[in-house]
Amino acid sequence: MSSIGAVQKDGGMADKGGFPHYMIKEIFEQPKSLYATITPRVAAEEDSVHLEDVHIKPEELQALRRINIVASGTSRHAGMVGQYMIQELAGVPVDVDYASEFGYRNPLIGPGELTVVITQSGETADTTAAQREAKSKGSRTIAISNVVDSTIAREADGVIYTHAGPEISIASTKAFTAQMAALFLFAVHLGHARGKVSTERVNTYIHELLEVPGKVETVLRSSSDCQRLAEEYFSMEDFLFLGRAIHYPIAMDGALKLKEVSYIHAEGYPTGETKHGPNALIDETLPVVILATCDRKDEGSVRRYEMSVSNIKGFKKQSGRVIAIASEGDDEIGSLADNIVFVPQAPELLTPILEIVPLQLFAYYMATKKGLDVDRPRNLVKSVMRE
Ligand code: F6R
Repeated sequence: MSSIGAVQKDGGMADKGGFPHYMIKEIFEQPKSLYATITPRVAAEEDSVHLEDVHIKPEELQALRRINIVASGTSRHAGMVGQYMIQELAGVPVDVDYASEFGYRNPLIGPGELTVVITQSGETADTTAAQREAKSKGSRTIAISNVVDSTIAREADGVIYTHAGPEISIASTKAFTAQMAALFLFAVHLGHARGKVSTERVNTYIHELLEVPGKVETVLRSSSDCQRLAEEYFSMEDFLFLGRAIHYPIAMDGALKLKEVSYIHAEGYPTGETKHGPNALIDETLPVVILATCDRKDEGSVRRYEMSVSNIKGFKKQSGRVIAIASEGDDEIGSLADNIVFVPQAPELLTPILEIVPLQLFAYYMATKKGLDVDRPRNLVKSVMRE
């Protein structure tokens, strides 16, 4: 069985394909899983996105008042990235919730709204319950799932399958990047249906998205840099991961990967929040991993980058150790940070798909350096079906 594609419910086990662990195999499969998720949805002329299983009529998409995204763990981080993509490209307000909290806040949702439920397995109990709650209030639902005919996919009005192939390692890697690609396709589709994105722009966005798998391939070539980083930092006991705007969810996911597979305490924080508390902790004992990429064609991105440079200078004054994820060709960051991993230049909305890869590799090498069972971290299961 091919290890790429949406997974059938009885999809069986994939082998490790010569890698020592599933996690590293799955990290290295990302160019393929991204390509498999993107290409069936784009027309040969690259001027339209086809999401034939979405089953929501263009009139309904045009009339949408709000979108709610509900998901758990890493899938929720994809939802946070999707919030930026959808708001930017389609101009629809988006709320993102933890599926486990959704029911408690008495969500005031109803007809005219859409709930997007994101889940690798399609079986997570909290996410299923949130989907049912949204449906009971009259919201339409779309599932983004990696498993064909899973409970959540079956109960949704429409579905976008990620074609990531079986994800065996408990830590989600290739499903996460495929979810972000699926959300970008959905945002372009929605933006076009609502008249916010011209056919010409659809073409540009598709073209940019199609370049992402190759760029991920480039990032993977720096895996030995990430291994060296792990060797340098593996005795540290705490890490702070920072990012602004669409990069903040990547900081969250970098921290989540590190804690779940290496049992090292890590927090993901919005960079601008450090001065509202966490700065008190930053010194040589608390390394900071900061997402400091920059899309030079995007003014907002340049502004955020400049603020991050100023933050890095501040952390260095406090004797902080700084690991930066930056865009290729950036000499300024190189002279400030203690360590740097470069990712290829990409548009702001697509850079998160590249940025998470070195953080996945870092978590993997930290865990293996400590001799831990990276594919099956203690106290965790792949699919959280009930409490
Ligand atoms: C973290 C991880 C979990 C899952 C979460 C949701 O690496 O894998 O946080 O993302 O349990 O699972 P799904 O996506 O199957 O609903």
